[in-house]
Amino acid sequence: MVWTKVADKGKIPSGKGEEFDVDGKKIAIFNKDGYYALDAMCAHQNNSIACGEIEGDIVECPYHSWHYNIKTGDLQDYLKGIKQQTYKVEVKDDGIYIDI
Ligand code: FES
Repeated sequence: MVWTKVADKGKIPSGKGEEFDVDGKKIAIFNKDGYYALDAMCAHQNNSIACGEIEGDIVECPYHSWHYNIKTGDLQDYLKGIKQQTYKVEVKDDGIYIDI
């Protein structure tokens, strides 16, 4: 367990997500009623879900509309058992950290 700072506080607008490179991994962090981090690359065709539209707890991949729960990483449609890895997020005084 290593907490790594990925961004300054306020970097990710409310209701949006952003992609970060952390230790060679592409991680999407969403600011939607709290912060949630998961692997950014969609299980469908390896495009980033970070800039997808969020409704409730669900982000829609902007490429072909697969849907993931931003809290659990679970794919919501098409295939069972597909899950993006999730990471704990903590907002500290000096920035946004994830446990990677
Ligand atoms: S790359 Fe995400 S749905 Fe196709």
